[in-house]
Amino acid sequence: MQSFNAKLCSPSDFLGWRSLSRDFLSRQVEASAVHWSIQETETLYAPQSERILPNASSPLKIPRFFGRLISSVFASAIPDRFDRLYRSLEHIQKYGEPSATDLKDFEQIAAEVRAQILRLRSTFPENRIADWQIIRTDCPPQLTDSQIGPLSRLRTAPWILLSDHRTLCWNGQDYRIGPAMTDADAPHADLVHQALQTATATRANAYWHELGTVHVTPTEENTREVQSLPHLRSLAVDCSFCDLCHHATCTVFGEGSETASILFVGEQPGDQEDLQGRPFVGPAGKLFDRALREAGGDRHEAWISNAVKHFKFVQKGNRRIHQKPGTTEMHACAPWISAERRLLRPRVTVMLGVTGASALLGRPVTVSRERSRLFKLDDDSIGLVTVHPSYLLRLPDENAKTREYIKFVADLRMAISALA
Ligand code: URA
Repeated sequence: MQSFNAKLCSPSDFLGWRSLSRDFLSRQVEASAVHWSIQETETLYAPQSERILPNASSPLKIPRFFGRLISSVFASAIPDRFDRLYRSLEHIQKYGEPSATDLKDFEQIAAEVRAQILRLRSTFPENRIADWQIIRTDCPPQLTDSQIGPLSRLRTAPWILLSDHRTLCWNGQDYRIGPAMTDADAPHADLVHQALQTATATRANAYWHELGTVHVTPTEENTREVQSLPHLRSLAVDCSFCDLCHHATCTVFGEGSETASILFVGEQPGDQEDLQGRPFVGPAGKLFDRALREAGGDRHEAWISNAVKHFKFVQKGNRRIHQKPGTTEMHACAPWISAERRLLRPRVTVMLGVTGASALLGRPVTVSRERSRLFKLDDDSIGLVTVHPSYLLRLPDENAKTREYIKFVADLRMAISALA
């Protein structure tokens, strides 16, 4: 029997594995005749590089859920995974569906990979720590590489991921990929400098095009089970509870002190928040920060979040115009803020504007009627409704603006004094 050497250029070479597999399948090459191996090419870490692969299209129809399992198994540490996966495709080619054994094994492997991904993601610091962060991991390169997309949306601010196999640099805009660093214990500033020099490959290098991204696709049940805020944030990266995720840059999760006793809930991220991956950092956020300081509070000691976690907008030319979230989006997003409240257990929750208040109270709210008083929430903690800071920004009249701002600060002060 003729044998075939199938050489991949790295443990995360999903593109190579997929095109070779398609080619073998279309030529009916049996799995036992294929010898998979990894052989790094010289240009693997070059800034740019072309690559020639067989371009057979898929001779199989692979169910979507099985495609997702394939990516997960590919990112696992199973030593013979290239062969196992090719055999699973061969089975589909022969019998029209995956084997029961493959399904069972792959689901178990996928669950382990998912847990590892969430652990890796939860070690990433929040975006409010804006400068370069160095994160170390013992995850295998196929797992870290499978997270290249999600990790840049989890932490949009710069970071460097170091492992025994790989150096990944995200500068806030682009990736650089390189081999492991030789002196990974140097002081912080040197490490950043060295990592940027070590990681020379860009995504324009064809070896780093398709890395078989693994999404953890959260469910509402997952949000109820999670036991920490970093874990919840790690899940929220892949949120697709409504269609807003398809257009926004990233999920803007809550941020602040995990021991905060006060929670502020706004509506949804705006343009700046969407780009920076942080709540309340645009014009409304700046006004909110000022008012909170005047009221005697400090945003770093609070937890700041939104009822809806993705930016809803319409594109007009090169401007993105804010759109109010509808009830469908508010309902779809509700599990996140409930989980944040369950994990944070704030003594006081301040609802900023109609969306934050309606989402939290689960009923329509008229802010002018319900604002400026403390009341009990379902869990016996204290709630307070006030206006949204963007309402103050929109007031055309300077006198009204000043008057309303003073009332807003008084509301925030009332909430803070309820902590005493
Ligand atoms: N408005 C909000 O409700 N939330 C933000 O994060 C920013 C603006």
